[in-house]
Amino acid sequence: MAASSTILRNPPGPRNAFLLGNIKPINDDPLRFTMQWARTFGDIVYFRLLNVPVFLLSNPAEIERVLITESRNFIKSRDYRGLRVIFGNGLLTSEGDFWMRQRRLAQPAFSHDRIQTYAGIMVSYAQRTLEQWRDGETRDIHHDMMTLTLEIVAKALFDADVSDDASLVRSSLNELLQNVEVGKLFFPILMKLPTLKNLRFRRAISRLDKVIYSVIAQRRKSGSGPDDLLSRMLQAQDIDGSRMTDQQLRDELITLFLAGHETTALALSWTWYLLAQHPEVEHKLHRELDTVLAGRAPVPADLFALRYTQFVINESMRLYPPAWGIGREAIRPCEIGGYPVPAGAQIWISEWITHRSSKYFSEPDQFRPERWENDFAKRLPRFAYFPFGGGPRLCIGQSFALLESVLLLATIAQRFRLTLIPGQQIVPWASLTLRPKNGIKVKLERL
Ligand code: HEM
Repeated sequence: MAASSTILRNPPGPRNAFLLGNIKPINDDPLRFTMQWARTFGDIVYFRLLNVPVFLLSNPAEIERVLITESRNFIKSRDYRGLRVIFGNGLLTSEGDFWMRQRRLAQPAFSHDRIQTYAGIMVSYAQRTLEQWRDGETRDIHHDMMTLTLEIVAKALFDADVSDDASLVRSSLNELLQNVEVGKLFFPILMKLPTLKNLRFRRAISRLDKVIYSVIAQRRKSGSGPDDLLSRMLQAQDIDGSRMTDQQLRDELITLFLAGHETTALALSWTWYLLAQHPEVEHKLHRELDTVLAGRAPVPADLFALRYTQFVINESMRLYPPAWGIGREAIRPCEIGGYPVPAGAQIWISEWITHRSSKYFSEPDQFRPERWENDFAKRLPRFAYFPFGGGPRLCIGQSFALLESVLLLATIAQRFRLTLIPGQQIVPWASLTLRPKNGIKVKLERL
């Protein structure tokens, strides 16, 4: 991306309204409009949000350069920075040396060996959930998956039992996400205006804070605890001997609580939705579970044999990537695909678009887990499929999430079949994550 003086045009893109640019379509329906623009204008699309230039990329080679090869030219995008009102300076939103130090501190909790030890928690919490399910009842599966994955991440990383707080966390999170809009994230000052939405937003954050601070206070009070991530964070010392303040701990905890449960819950919710519409896939999945597990609970060593189960998860995250987009900001002028990119420009990278491109996936809108057979992933360009991002900011929880999704899917699918309640409209909603707008109502059938 060496700067070139010969090229001065912008990439093609939609017409920009005089002052607002394309803020309205992006706020109204980002999935539809960005897809439409990528299909009309190609791999690099240019538009403005107010006066801020945005480059929308859906070409794996350019994505690789932004996320890996030339990642030093970029920081997280403006909308991520807007998210600091929720996450403060936690792992997802921090930058530079501070981020690096915190990432090193958290990394051991996500090592291969450590993650295997969380499998018992994952399976037993799933079994506990199933004990409350009744044959023939109707449930919102997104709601159930959110509760389950929240309880799991809290127990695994912080040895905290949040069962009593799960519904409070869920409702606060819903409140937060309903009141978060790209426009506001771009201009966080808008969140300070005394509107009803903003008031609700702040109330939701303080409810979440209460849960987090009580987890921290309990551990400080008990003085000791298991050798988990929270203990490591409490003990961590800077070179000057200072420790993390409660505010810093709060930022890391809320980040891991939210980033560590919502996304995995969505991967599973969309998987149930797809399975319910594809009986032939569901049948193959059950055949594999019967052969490999024959009714017993899954353990990490089964993962290798549960290949089709993994393909189902891969394919579901291809069609409905829980993190549907990744954003960066250029910190110095550079060039992308021959176009000049000014410092301050926003780079939007969309899993939603690239994962559905017919250049890399045949019949891209079809749910076909079989496509992952015969090492298909290895034959894809590196950033044609990237549900967990890539480069230095790769999702720290990738292995955690993959293990959890397979174990939960295997545990639940062995006991229940889920069918969609007819007449509901299931609409993907691009909030911070890709959520089913009105949940997913299913009828349970005990097997
Ligand atoms: C299916 C589940 C998941 C998906 C699809 C997912 C996706 C992602 C993506 C795309 C990023 C990169 C964002 C960027 O580059 O700007 C990310 C970062 C992150 N994820 Fe995940 N994630 C999942 C599960 C988890 C879990 C289980 C945890 C923790 C237990 C977690 C914690 C984080 C954190 C802390 C970061 C920021 C890492 C950093 O910048 O150092 N995620 N995730």
